[in-house]
Amino acid sequence: MEGLEYIYELCEALPRSGPGDNECTRRAYNSIPHPKQHPLILDIGCGQGMQTIELAKISDGNIIALDNHQGFLDILMRQAERRGLDEQITPRNMSMLDMDFEEGIFDIVWSEGALYLMGFQNGLNRCHQLLKDKGYLAVTELVYTADEPPETVVEYLVAEYPDIKTVPENIETINNEGFNLISNFTLPESAWLNNYYIPIENELSHLIKRYQGNEVAQAVFAGFKQEVELYRKYSKYYGYEFFVMQKS
Ligand SMILES: C[S@@+](CC[C@H](N)C(=O)[O-])C[C@H]1O[C@@H](n2cnc3c(N)ncnc32)[C@H](O)[C@@H]1O
Repeated sequence: MEGLEYIYELCEALPRSGPGDNECTRRAYNSIPHPKQHPLILDIGCGQGMQTIELAKISDGNIIALDNHQGFLDILMRQAERRGLDEQITPRNMSMLDMDFEEGIFDIVWSEGALYLMGFQNGLNRCHQLLKDKGYLAVTELVYTADEPPETVVEYLVAEYPDIKTVPENIETINNEGFNLISNFTLPESAWLNNYYIPIENELSHLIKRYQGNEVAQAVFAGFKQEVELYRKYSKYYGYEFFVMQKS
């Protein structure tokens, strides 16, 4: 993908690489009725791992943190070491499309803002295979949150995120893929802004200057600016939904 290095440079400077916050991670985890004492957790598309660190703290489990960008895994492990959590976290540089874990071994599979890269339905199906019987899956997915979104919003989202659906449509998919929904909630706007869009805006102001005259970089940065502006104007119409479910 052209300009990927500039996306990584931007994202590595952020607290996380997608909307979310520790409060939402905790809320989702706490909705699991009886988590095992030291669960084995797979965090798919962990990025720099804000949620991985939080999960390590609240679950006291062992986490395989999977991402296909080594730069993110290095940031995660530096932070884990600083907090004394590194023994609980094993980084794996691997594509989620090529996961070679034994089937049925995970107590919990987690994925914030990343499962869509496999396609939501396909991702659920793959996680179902990896989970133990009665295991739990927690995932955030982009959804429409209001009826009749304006044409500008639909055009943008369908181009960037063709799989986007409503919450009831996703719940139907969850049931069809052999899960029982336990809880779901919409991430608040603060989870988009505080750890993601505001840091992006701050970082872009430096990067746009640093890469003056570099058309590829400027196109990447303009894409991020457009994304932030769209959300600031139309956040009523779309958002991230946290879905927590149990393998049935
Ligand atoms: C939107 S970010 C979410 C990161 C993190 N979960 C968060 O919420 O901050 C998506 C992550 O998926 C990773 N990713 C993209 N394609 C991948 C693939 N095929 N296999 C594994 N990870 C992938 C990216 O490197 C990135 O870290």
